[in-house]
Amino acid sequence: MPLRRHLLALVALVLGVCLLAGGALTYWTGLRKIELEMSSAIEVGSSTVSDALSSIAAGGDSRAQMQQLHRIVGSFDGDRHVLARLVAPDGSVRDVSRIRKPVDPPPAWLYWLLAGKIHTREFNLPEQFKNLGKIELRADPHNEIGEVWEDLKLKFIIISSFCGIVLALIYASLGRALKPLEDLSAALNRVGEGDYTAHVAEEGPEDLNLIYRAFNRMAERLRAAEQQNQRLNEQLSTVQEEERSEIARDLHDEIGPFLFAADVDAQSIPILVMRGANEGVTSRAKAIRQSVQHMQVHLRGILSRLRPAMLIDQGLTHAVEHLVAFWRTRQPSIAFHTDIDDMRFPAHIEETAFRILQEGTSNAVRHGKPSTIHLTVRLTDAAILRVVVSDDGSGIDATAKRGFGLSGMKERVAALDGELRVARPDKNKGVLLIAEIPIPAETRGKKLTRATSAA
Ligand SMILES: Nc1ncnc2c1ncn2[C@@H]1O[C@H](COP(=O)(O)OP(=O)(O)OP(=O)(O)O)[C@@H](O)[C@H]1O
Ligand SMILES: [Mg+2]
Repeated sequence: MPLRRHLLALVALVLGVCLLAGGALTYWTGLRKIELEMSSAIEVGSSTVSDALSSIAAGGDSRAQMQQLHRIVGSFDGDRHVLARLVAPDGSVRDVSRIRKPVDPPPAWLYWLLAGKIHTREFNLPEQFKNLGKIELRADPHNEIGEVWEDLKLKFIIISSFCGIVLALIYASLGRALKPLEDLSAALNRVGEGDYTAHVAEEGPEDLNLIYRAFNRMAERLRAAEQQNQRLNEQLSTVQEEERSEIARDLHDEIGPFLFAADVDAQSIPILVMRGANEGVTSRAKAIRQSVQHMQVHLRGILSRLRPAMLIDQGLTHAVEHLVAFWRTRQPSIAFHTDIDDMRFPAHIEETAFRILQEGTSNAVRHGKPSTIHLTVRLTDAAILRVVVSDDGSGIDATAKRGFGLSGMKERVAALDGELRVARPDKNKGVLLIAEIPIPAETRGKKLTRATSAA
């Protein structure tokens, strides 16, 4: 059940209980009031009849006597509470007073509830009237119950209007107070369905406002993360595409000519053999070996780019040498300096370190046009592996578009609880890329070998 309906039902229940209690109290006081009124009315009526009987004239004929008795009964005409009757000795009613009718007669169920015990009184007539019967008084609570009925109706109208107004006010104010919560629930649903543009208005009570603010922050972060994910995915496919075409180019430019040369040399050998030109055969065989060696070097280069783990298997120093050799052949104008700690670290840390050196060098060459690149890997006293790539190139342009490289490096380092910073070197030239990766406590202080790192 929604919160608003739940609270309203609760308030309605409380009001209903109050109404019932009020009804019960009214019933009880009504009952007492009617009892009191009826008994006092019958008392007053009794003294009226007694007085009248004591003062009636004893003489006269029976007709005159009858008239006197009719007068006594008639004196109760229009009374609100007491009915007088003249009852003959045989039980037949000779005369009855007219009681005043209530303006708003009470319903039968209320009469049944409130009437209580009906008070009656009988008066025997004096000796000389004996044969005429007796006078009877009977309390009639209709008028009194009618008053209670009117009172009840008025109270009911007032209380139900009050309840209606209270419920309407609670409904309206709860609606206003809970509206942001309903918005929040709808916004959470949208986030659950992957729509991170959801936003809730930061208004209402301060406690709830804190929740709305936190929600908006969360949605914004999710939106940013999703956008970054999307961008990374796009860049990843571009990078893969670029890498594929680079490998295709390498295979075509570096391997293709040597394959062709080896084929030509191999074809010429049978002809040289037929001619008996042994020297030629030897030189062709040598040329084929050279071509094959060249192809092997290039193939290793391509493989090391595809699977650096193969390189790193032989240590970071070896892998970095390979990396530098790769770039030296392509960028002979750049001076590469390396300072690599000759230690072994867990495989995943070495791979991250190598990826940073690889991407940092690639960025420096591609974007900075530097004359010098320094690659450093050092284990600090605080057991932090510090990987640094610095160059003296143009530095990062403030308007540079964000690529996959830097964010990928940051993510790799963060996954190892480390930190990656990009700064400017001292001379305010080029880029200084520093990654600091903590070495796990269990591997600290050991000169790690590949065997321990793999374990
Ligand atoms: N050493 C550097 N010298 C000059 N500019 C740099 C250097 N490193 C990074 N940048 C600038 O920072 C931008 C972001 O680098 P990042 O490696 O994230 O992306 P990218 O190299 O452009 O593309 P990707 O690495 O995804 O192929 C680069 O486009 C470049 O403008
Ligand atoms: Mg890059």
